[in-house]
Amino acid sequence: MRKQLFAKKPLSLLLQEMEGENRLRRILGPVALTSLGIGAIIGTGIFVLTGVAAADKAGPAIMLSFAVAGFACIFAAMCYSEVASMVPVAGSAYTYAYATLGELFAWIIGWDLILEYAVASATVAHGWSHYFQDFIGIFGIHLPLAFTRAPFDYNIDTGAFYTTGALFDLPAILIALLITAILVKGIRESAGFNTTMVVIKLAVVLLVIVLGFQYIKFENWIPFAPYGYSGLSVFGKTVWGMTSSGGAPVGVLAGAAMIFFAYIGFDSVSTHAEEAKNPRRDVPIGIITSLIVCTVLYILVAGVITGMVPYNKINIDAPISDAFRQVGLGWAQFVISAGAMAGITSVLLVMMLSQPRVFLAMARDGLVPESIFGAIHDKFRTPWKSTIITGIFVAILGGLLPLRILAELVNIGTLFAFVVVCSAVLIMRRMHPNAERPFKAPLYPFTPIMGIITCLMLMFSLPEENWLRLFIWLALGMLIYFFYGRKHSVMAKMIAKEEAENK
Ligand code: ALA
Repeated sequence: MRKQLFAKKPLSLLLQEMEGENRLRRILGPVALTSLGIGAIIGTGIFVLTGVAAADKAGPAIMLSFAVAGFACIFAAMCYSEVASMVPVAGSAYTYAYATLGELFAWIIGWDLILEYAVASATVAHGWSHYFQDFIGIFGIHLPLAFTRAPFDYNIDTGAFYTTGALFDLPAILIALLITAILVKGIRESAGFNTTMVVIKLAVVLLVIVLGFQYIKFENWIPFAPYGYSGLSVFGKTVWGMTSSGGAPVGVLAGAAMIFFAYIGFDSVSTHAEEAKNPRRDVPIGIITSLIVCTVLYILVAGVITGMVPYNKINIDAPISDAFRQVGLGWAQFVISAGAMAGITSVLLVMMLSQPRVFLAMARDGLVPESIFGAIHDKFRTPWKSTIITGIFVAILGGLLPLRILAELVNIGTLFAFVVVCSAVLIMRRMHPNAERPFKAPLYPFTPIMGIITCLMLMFSLPEENWLRLFIWLALGMLIYFFYGRKHSVMAKMIAKEEAENK
């Protein structure tokens, strides 16, 4: 039993599996991969969460929060690139953990990645809904309250839940189902659709920066850090900096922990390694380029928005387009709202594309039912059943749970995955010092160690209840593993066979 829990999938076996049947098509080059990265990164984080984070957590110093979160991601990105170039198969952190830390850890990470991809998709669907409602609002159209948002929300000032008067978020549900339909049809169409969306999104972000720059009032940047420069708590106890009246940490680090969401997605490039034409070279290029481009754009957008509108007057539902309304540029509000919808759609597309691919990797190892999660459509060659299951899950969560709760849960789960990937680099270098590494994380061991430290720091800067939610989620995963995965694991069967032969 112990042997199975820590059984590692040999690197050679992973690479050998790549040659087998039932593979995805290799059609993505470096530009398409970078575009998938940008497609996954720029979305609800910058278009929506910037508002909440600036208003409640950091003020104009949200620019620094973006820099801090980007800094943490760079280390993790280097580590992702190293492992993705070594193990260029679908499954991302899950597969890397299987090769380095063993089956139990791989399962924990695979389960955790559901937070990163499926729960993030639900969060993103919410963000889409905000801009959709902002957009139709320009024409005086308003949905009935019952269909505008989740039925309850959480107030960080009082630390209590309250009912919103709505039943569910209808636009969030509809967009999740629409994207599901597109994804079932196939990756080629999806990648083309994504590229168009990415072009629109970049154009809108550049418009915000160039046009908004002219409306910056420098006095809006004073005070620059009304909530302080820190904001670090450990399991709910603020150890460095200020707290909100409801007890949550505030300040630059607390802001960084929240807007970290804006960076999630660069790693999803690695889940497409199996569809890359030249994964060893192009996957690291895709990950690192998309991350750097987004970091620079984010800091500029955050500077412009907090310069245009005093931080405490930023609209928290659709902050970017509303900033232009506030300075009297109605046409820009229209263009930005439409562009944000397109941009957020592309995030949803990549996130919802990634989740079934992680499931696919887990199904091949027997940890989830292969007949469902491993099924590839005969004609479309897509993991269609798990795409549909993911879509339904995203629609339900997106319709019923509030944005802030979803976003923080995603952040803590993703940061945890990053910590594991950085650890995997340290372990791999020890276990397989001579394995071929087409991309090597520079400044070893500084890079993975810094990745672990910075991600843990951000995890600790999140409000305490997120730790509890993460533990509950992981405990649920453990139950599933012990009742299903452990018994059906392909690796377990191999070990049993070997043992029987040796007797
Ligand atoms: N980074 C993605 C977004 O902000 C998840 O929407």
